[in-house]
Amino acid sequence: MTKTWELHKTGSLKGEITPPPDKSLSHRAVMFASLAEGTSRVRNFLRAEDPLSTLRAFRSLGIGISEEPPGEKASGGEVSGEVLIHGKGLHGLQEAFDVIDCGNSGTTVRLLAGILAGSPFFSVLTGDNSLKQRPMARVVSPLKAMGAEISGRAGDRYLPLAIRGGSLKAMEYVMPVASAQVKSCLILAGLYAEGTTVITEPLLSRDHTERMLAAMGAGISSEGLTVRVAGQALGGGGRELQPLDITVPADFSSAAFFLAAAFLVPGSDVLVKGVGINPTRTGLLDVLRQMGGSVTLHNEREVSGEPVADIHCSAADGLRAVTVGRESIPSLIDEFPILCILATQAEGTTEIRGAEELRVKESDRIRAMALELKKMGAELEEFPDGIAIRGKTKLKGCAVESHDDHRIAMSLAVAALIAGGTTTIADASCVDISFPGFFGQLKALSA
Ligand code: S3P
Repeated sequence: MTKTWELHKTGSLKGEITPPPDKSLSHRAVMFASLAEGTSRVRNFLRAEDPLSTLRAFRSLGIGISEEPPGEKASGGEVSGEVLIHGKGLHGLQEAFDVIDCGNSGTTVRLLAGILAGSPFFSVLTGDNSLKQRPMARVVSPLKAMGAEISGRAGDRYLPLAIRGGSLKAMEYVMPVASAQVKSCLILAGLYAEGTTVITEPLLSRDHTERMLAAMGAGISSEGLTVRVAGQALGGGGRELQPLDITVPADFSSAAFFLAAAFLVPGSDVLVKGVGINPTRTGLLDVLRQMGGSVTLHNEREVSGEPVADIHCSAADGLRAVTVGRESIPSLIDEFPILCILATQAEGTTEIRGAEELRVKESDRIRAMALELKKMGAELEEFPDGIAIRGKTKLKGCAVESHDDHRIAMSLAVAALIAGGTTTIADASCVDISFPGFFGQLKALSA
């Protein structure tokens, strides 16, 4: 990942754009379809590095998956495609011949751990240097409590994980952190368990797993912060999963870069089309409105069980600082970096707290944004659980680094559009993790 991108201050952004398909839904569609009885069709699947890691993992577990257009090419190729997944049922996976490499993808490794804990064979999960430093005890410890045989490096805290799958017992679990990856891991393990698994989170994280599994006929229900899932083991009352036929909407977290850019670049007016607006994902919309900008939803509809809309956004004069607290973090967890860019242009001090989870994402995103924005001239203070940014500051173009984190690279690219002079972003190819073609689409809007 060595490519450096050069960007300049731009004139107004105008036009329509459809961001790439949703990453969370693309992962889940492949995983859950693999566990269904029969063939599933997933339209508008995201052909980016992360979901392709999931696709490769399930192929290595014996699932037949065909792609249209054929071939796995994240860079330069089509960002969306159609996949057919020939599911073999909950108990149809086969032992992989080799270690399963989940690349950069936390969603792949954590959800897969839940499935493999219930699958009666040996598996080893690993990932790239970033994923190998991300916490895994959050899934290992509850899975062990369900009876899984699983261990990992450094006292079960990190990858690689070795799993000898087998029978699991349902449990009641109160999660210490709000995390859709942990919740989904335990829901999937719960499908294999004997009895009903009950999971409660401290705050609501994205609920794509619950929606998709319910649509596939799983015995799953949610009430407030608690999810109950019936296991398929003898006497568990769980049911076979039915195949899927779905269309994945555009990813709100990819749309966020364009919404912010339209807000920040004077004279801009942009329509971002076909975006998933699941309320567990759209905390940024509330923040944008609080900051004083105009953002409106059009053509609201439901696509494959998820709410979708076109989002219209135009440049906002005189943005106001906001305070973002712990309770809002799960609904804008992936928008922290772009929110930091917005904060540099808001009048007053924007404070984002209760966000310590951001330190264990693809990079330490609090640190990364503090370091890079300081280089660009921002006034800020870093806290263990967040950041305070004083605006409004004139940003200056300079050499910045992506920290090999796709969302850091894309956020800095948006900052570059309003910074004086030229900005270079080192190691920017990491945008391929979620958004191949990002720089081209951004450029097309400013043409
Ligand atoms: C994801 C959940 C979030 C998010 C990640 C994708 C998912 O992680 O940051 O990009 O697909 O479930 P956590 O749930 O661990 O916060």
